[in-house]
Amino acid sequence: MQVPCLNEARKRTKDKVLIQENLYQVNEKQKNLGIGKKYFVKTYGCQMNEHDSENISAILEEMNFIRVNHIEEADLVILNTCAIRENAHDKVFGLLGRIKHTKATKSVVVGLGGCMAQEEIIVDTILRRYKWLDFVFGTHNFYNLPNIIEKVYVQNKQQIEVISCEGQVIENIPVKRDNKYKAWVNIMYGCDKFCTYCIVPYTRGKQRSRLPFHIIEEVKNLVKNGYKEVTLLGQNVNAYGKDLNIDYTLANLLEDVAKTNIERIRFITSHPWDFSDKMIDVISKYQNIMPYIHLPIQSGSNKILKLMGRRYTKEEYLTLFNKLKAKIPHVSITTDIIVGFPNETEEDFNETLDVVKKCQFDSAFTFIFSPRVGTPASKMEDNIPLDVKEARLRELNNLINKYSKENNERYMNKTVSVLLEDYSSKKKDCLNGYTDTMKLVNVKSPDCNLGKIVNVKITDVKTWSLDGEIVK
Ligand code: 5AD
Ligand code: SF4
Repeated sequence: MQVPCLNEARKRTKDKVLIQENLYQVNEKQKNLGIGKKYFVKTYGCQMNEHDSENISAILEEMNFIRVNHIEEADLVILNTCAIRENAHDKVFGLLGRIKHTKATKSVVVGLGGCMAQEEIIVDTILRRYKWLDFVFGTHNFYNLPNIIEKVYVQNKQQIEVISCEGQVIENIPVKRDNKYKAWVNIMYGCDKFCTYCIVPYTRGKQRSRLPFHIIEEVKNLVKNGYKEVTLLGQNVNAYGKDLNIDYTLANLLEDVAKTNIERIRFITSHPWDFSDKMIDVISKYQNIMPYIHLPIQSGSNKILKLMGRRYTKEEYLTLFNKLKAKIPHVSITTDIIVGFPNETEEDFNETLDVVKKCQFDSAFTFIFSPRVGTPASKMEDNIPLDVKEARLRELNNLINKYSKENNERYMNKTVSVLLEDYSSKKKDCLNGYTDTMKLVNVKSPDCNLGKIVNVKITDVKTWSLDGEIVK
């Protein structure tokens, strides 16, 4: 049994990151384990987790498990969890409660993996109160799933495998992509920023970039297989390459990925601290780099930004924001904002509202501060009453929604390009997809346009989506 340790997870050394090209393996015995069995993976949290689940699915399918879409039909259930806020924990524990009942009536193997598994406090709880859970694996242990699952079936006893290392880069894990037209591509893992509220540097380990060669090869293969869009993934993509010491940054990578001629390139998430002019130049130069930037601000108050350890001021953020708007034609910019951080006064909150009024973001994800055990902010007094936090969130959301709608209104009667990727759940006879600027559009269209990038004239505008018709 290997359990997580926060002190270990906090460590950052100057040791060179190990790039492992052959670590993942599945043997013949393990390939037989899944025959006749069905699996279900439930994913919580960010795009990184969604992509990890694509890896988990591929590993399970190499072991010959068959995917099902309903948890009740599965012989093996894996919850790929998120630790970023308390409500992410609550959802997982809620589902575990329900699964426990099912387990009393039918034989099902249940595993919990991902970020929650990297938290000491969660694994303590599992050891005390969830003895029935079959296995737990951390974010650094995916590659070892065949061994972990084999032990579960053979030994029939709880397996806990969570190492709190700084992390390595494992290149040979298979992937079963959920989408035929758009693909996630990891460019780096972990984060070294240690924003004081954030658990990610502990659950995901130190920043380690993939080698440019591996990333470009992956994108070239996607192009060969008909993919239209890649999203380059990292907790903090603008710091890509810093740990490689080869004088190669996100600007170089974006340029090299653009030259593969993949039709659309996106990248998330950007940290304002590392956004260089060279990156902005590359984004504006290449048609296939999408004019969409997710640029979390978190707060508009310099006092709170300092307490958050964000390393920029409101003024610096605004300078960068204005530069992006000036240099990248019709760029859309979205953000993340936390309200109710310790010591956030009405004045601090008003400064956040003020920045939102200045930036008029295309949209924003907004959150109430949630103390994460082990982070510096969890040791600060959580001194804003819940009703005040909720009122601030409501006021902020009203403002954000107003600007979302106003930004969308600018699209009325305009023609935009949309990658049609799915059937619309909202509108009959419609497909949906995103503009280059990441606006969701419902488009009246026959099925044969799925996977195509089409020109669409916008005919109606809502707060969170647009409607449109295909034009020649
Ligand atoms: N409480 C509330 N929101 C948080 N986020 C990260 N950690 C916390 C926390 N402890 C938000 C940040 C980040 C987004 C992914 O989640 O806004 O950008
Ligand atoms: Fe968390 Fe900050 Fe790293 Fe983003 S940059 S993952 S908020 S520590």
